[in-house]
Amino acid sequence: MPPDSLRLRRLRGTEGMRAILNETTVDPSDFIAPVFVRYGSGLVEPIAALPGVNRYSVDKVAGYAARLSDAGIRAMLLFGIPEAKDELGTQAYAADGIVPSAIREVKRAVPSMLVMADVCLCEYTSHGHCGVTRDGQVDNDETLPLLGKAAVAYANAGADVVAPSAMMDFQVRALRGALDQNRLQRTLVMGYSAKFSSSFYGPFREAAGSAPSFGDRKGYQMPPGNGREALREIESDLDEGADLVMVKPALPYLDVISRARARFDAPIAAYNVSGEYAMLKAAGSRGWIDEKAAALEVLTSIKRAGADLIITYFAEEAAGWLRGSR
Ligand code: PBG
Repeated sequence: MPPDSLRLRRLRGTEGMRAILNETTVDPSDFIAPVFVRYGSGLVEPIAALPGVNRYSVDKVAGYAARLSDAGIRAMLLFGIPEAKDELGTQAYAADGIVPSAIREVKRAVPSMLVMADVCLCEYTSHGHCGVTRDGQVDNDETLPLLGKAAVAYANAGADVVAPSAMMDFQVRALRGALDQNRLQRTLVMGYSAKFSSSFYGPFREAAGSAPSFGDRKGYQMPPGNGREALREIESDLDEGADLVMVKPALPYLDVISRARARFDAPIAAYNVSGEYAMLKAAGSRGWIDEKAAALEVLTSIKRAGADLIITYFAEEAAGWLRGSR
């Protein structure tokens, strides 16, 4: 081919040409909606740092699940906010706790909704760490059975997927073992495999009241610069029996998603976290960016990097935008 004959703009010349050559699409069935469930009743409580996202009391969560389902969202990921916290995070694994109650409500009202439950202690411990502390340190192996108990409580309530996010070593194996011992072989485990110690979790910690009261999470969450180590985390979760793996956050770690996609054939989820959402909402509300276009661009980029599923606070809204554009 003569060097001056390749004109890539020919590929973009018309709307029709762009449509048939489009490489990456996002669909509402790619999205998982994170949902905060709190104690109390009759409450739908806005979260200042997450405009458009609410905390729902257990009696209000089924209505929201129905709305998500109507929007075409197939899955939600539940986080619980208990009334009382303690050293051992006991409300995380109480059989009648917030999350098991919410799971039952959702499954009763919208049986087709896939219910995923985050498994961690940080929303339930008085100190806000993701595991049990001993001498000011988070103790890995003492935490594992508690995570296992939480997973069993959620699976017994009807969760389809349990998702350990505490970044303890062997947390996937601990959940798989506890589930299997309790005849819960059908419940999937989605590992928060490569979860980075990120400054983008701020709004979530406000929403869940889960900021650590001392220290930080650098002793268990991953350092932002370590891509190879992230792949080792994913590999070890798969070895431990994870059905799905995750990279979190999404945007600052698109390269990790992409490398994981090239290396592993398991389904990969990416968590487009609270701070990533809040940035777009903040700039959008000031008119500094076109929020809708920016959000769809971000979601498309996460998919293009190789994620099969995107956990995003934009789920319901983006589903509406996508429907409007068809
Ligand atoms: C709990 C957990 C966190 C997030 C998901 N699960 C917070 C944290 O690790 O501090 C953050 C999600 C988000 O920012 O949207 N361990």
